[in-house]
Amino acid sequence: MNNKYELIYEGKAKKVFSHEDSDKVIIEFKDDATAFNALKKAKFEGKGKLNCLISARIFEILISNNIPTHFIELKNENIMIAKKIKVIPLEIVLRNTAYGSLCKQTTIKPGTILAKPLIDIYLKNDELNDPILTKERIELMNIISSKDLDLIIDLTLKINIILKSFFKNIQLQLVDFKLEFGYDFKNKILLGDEISPDNCRLWDLNQKNDTIVSLDKDRFRNDLGGLIEAYSEINRRINEFI
Ligand code: TMP
Ligand code: ASP
Repeated sequence: MNNKYELIYEGKAKKVFSHEDSDKVIIEFKDDATAFNALKKAKFEGKGKLNCLISARIFEILISNNIPTHFIELKNENIMIAKKIKVIPLEIVLRNTAYGSLCKQTTIKPGTILAKPLIDIYLKNDELNDPILTKERIELMNIISSKDLDLIIDLTLKINIILKSFFKNIQLQLVDFKLEFGYDFKNKILLGDEISPDNCRLWDLNQKNDTIVSLDKDRFRNDLGGLIEAYSEINRRINEFI
């Protein structure tokens, strides 16, 4: 990245740089992958580019469905321009199918279709290992007003309806996903971060039997191999459909 831009923040999978317009930022997607709060680390050549392209397409779909997001445009294959937001330190997870931590922490069997979407909210705090929160704990910490929390939950449910149906069209089951939101300079809530196979579980529906074929970061989390092939397949199906 050109050094006239100042690095504002570096996360596990992205770098955020300043933009000449102070209301915007430049987001560079990295090839690094982490899991289990960075206990596990690796680099996958081409992952940054795939996540950036996939996220851009998904943001465009959401914007066309009136969801407010930070996405402005792609600058190149692994860089996007976005509106500058003050990130709310909450990770909003929506689950349609039971998997991952839900099955480790409850007696619900992996693969169970949930009667209605479940929203789990976590504190975005690596030192505390992103603990799960309750509405009451969020209120006690003064992170966000209960009105804004309700708005975020409502947006997450709407996003789920849009994405579930989009992914079904390309033969993918949207198992669960994680979102982050923030405030723009007018204090409006926008969807931020990325929407990619790094933070969505997507299962291939093109399977004859009930075997689970993950086309997402579980390929790395669970040592299944073929991460780039899986992300490329998602990108291919999205582009073929649009
Ligand atoms: P979980 O089953 O580990 O709680 O994950 C639920 C969803 O949230 C899954 O799609 C992966 C995503 N996720 C993230 O994007 N970041 C995280 O730090 C974690 C723990 C999960
Ligand atoms: N993003 C988290 C980490 O960095 C965990 C995950 O996605 O599983 O470790």
